[in-house]
Amino acid sequence: MKIPFLSLHDITAKYRDEIHKAVLRVVDSGWYLQGKENEQFEQHYAEYIGTKHCIGCANGLDALIWIFRAYIEMGVMWPGDEVIVPANTYIATILAITENNLVPVLVEPNPETLQIDDSLIEERITERTKAICIVHLYGRLAYTEKIGELCKKYNLKLVEDNAQAHGCKFEVKGERREAKGKEYKRTGSLGDAAGHSFYPGKNLGALGDGGAVTTDDDELAAAIRALANYGSQKKYVFKYTGRNSRLDEIQAAVLDVKLRHLDEDTRLRQQIAAYYYDNINNPLITLPKRLPDIENVYHLFPILVKNTLPFREEKEVGLHPSPLGDCGASSLRDKLQSYLAENGVGTVIHYPIPPHLQECYLKYPFLQGREWERLILPISEQIADEELSLPMSPTMTMEQVEYVVSVLNEWKGE
Ligand SMILES: Cc1ncc(COP(=O)(O)O)c(C=O)c1O
Repeated sequence: MKIPFLSLHDITAKYRDEIHKAVLRVVDSGWYLQGKENEQFEQHYAEYIGTKHCIGCANGLDALIWIFRAYIEMGVMWPGDEVIVPANTYIATILAITENNLVPVLVEPNPETLQIDDSLIEERITERTKAICIVHLYGRLAYTEKIGELCKKYNLKLVEDNAQAHGCKFEVKGERREAKGKEYKRTGSLGDAAGHSFYPGKNLGALGDGGAVTTDDDELAAAIRALANYGSQKKYVFKYTGRNSRLDEIQAAVLDVKLRHLDEDTRLRQQIAAYYYDNINNPLITLPKRLPDIENVYHLFPILVKNTLPFREEKEVGLHPSPLGDCGASSLRDKLQSYLAENGVGTVIHYPIPPHLQECYLKYPFLQGREWERLILPISEQIADEELSLPMSPTMTMEQVEYVVSVLNEWKGE
């Protein structure tokens, strides 16, 4: 049996007729940017997420860049201010911060949940901290009430990177629930602003690049809409030095179709994940903590394979032996990946090198003497050495899922 890590062909084919109709409608309309399709999708996505505004933009990285840039334009943040962020995220989260000359303050994840460890945040807050940016990595909820309380206590903005978690929910409890009258809130509506990616492989994916910001803040929304349109609020009048970062009409039309099926596709992902959780049984493999279904939309299904190489922990903490470390050198995880490939199962590592060990940040000037080249973050580095993502897609058949599990359970570490 051959099981690709992800078949975008199959995902698109599932809604082929509706997508073709939507694309042809735009083709025949003669209107390709800033039109009705964007308006519709933005309205539907804002309703879905539960925010007042949704602003479409070119991609998920831009969505995050615009949030921080708008806060700078509004005078809420200044270059050199600090943003607390998980150390084990995809590089785009960090790029959005440094692109704005803000300083990312990296906080280690909890090794069981793989999400930012909220018990480590408060000690990293300084006078220059202006925001906490949480990342719902792998489709797993990263928000905790404690994070919300810290934002209130220190007057920090809460920015969500929701690139991987469209549809994920947080259960609102107690007083907050009575006040809001709702049982849950979706990720993307839990903080002050959220960036979303519609990269094709995402749970809500376009047929090319796409992104959006969701927020309840009118001023922020207006600034972001302008920034993503050359900095203009009125034709040929420029308030900011913006860029062209718009979502085009074809992508908006396609996303509107796929949004209608998102919850149904999420349920299929959850069924596959339930089978993985219930049946993967191999002493060499650890699974991240199982969350209730509302808190995980399973964008990816990460497993961890214990590293058997001598680990960095034995070296002097605080001093990195070599700038790029030896991340990505886990013999056992790599062996498993080859074994699965030999048996027809495609996998991907998310992510082999954590941001602080990437070449682009070795001498990055805005870290202001806090260069990352000698920084050791053992948990993030361990995850980078041990993580492997199994096939996960709403188009997988149960037969395929069963096959992946049986191959995995037979693995003896060779
Ligand atoms: C966590 C995270 N943040 C941000 C991004 C950036 O999104 P995009 O690829 O649309 O720029 C991605 C996806 O690639 C991501 O996974």
